[in-house]
Amino acid sequence: MKTTSKIALASVVLVFAAGSSYAATAAENWENSCASCHGADGKGQTKQGKKLKVKDYTDAKIQAELKDDEMAKAILDGVKGDNGKERMKGFKDELSEPDAKDLVAFVRKLKA
Ligand code: HEC
Repeated sequence: MKTTSKIALASVVLVFAAGSSYAATAAENWENSCASCHGADGKGQTKQGKKLKVKDYTDAKIQAELKDDEMAKAILDGVKGDNGKERMKGFKDELSEPDAKDLVAFVRKLKA
């Protein structure tokens, strides 16, 4: 009897795990694709973030300089520096436009 209920529980867990990977939330996407540079908290104080000099997205002044549509475009198409070199890759292949918009809303909420 015990084994049967364990198997039942395991399959419920599996269904949930499969469901969540199908439609990742903005927080999950941030954690998986963005936090390595921008930091879980958005301050950009990671090894890579410091190297690339990412801005502190909790800073209200920096947030004020950002525009929602440009942010969404940056997430999908990437960011190039003045020298034309890629600074952040585009996530078009991994994220949909609604995903990008959700991430913009997520970034807005990082503001201190
Ligand atoms: C390889 C490191 C790296 C990763 C990974 C990364 N970024 Fe960036 N991101 C940068 C750099 C560098 C810039 C340009 C400097 C800056 O504005 O801080 C930038 C800029 C941005 C901007 C500002 C665009 C604008 O309008 O000026 C947003 C918004 C952004 N990233 C969101 C994200 C999101 C969301 C993800 C995950 C899907 C992500 N980034 C993943 C490095 C990264």
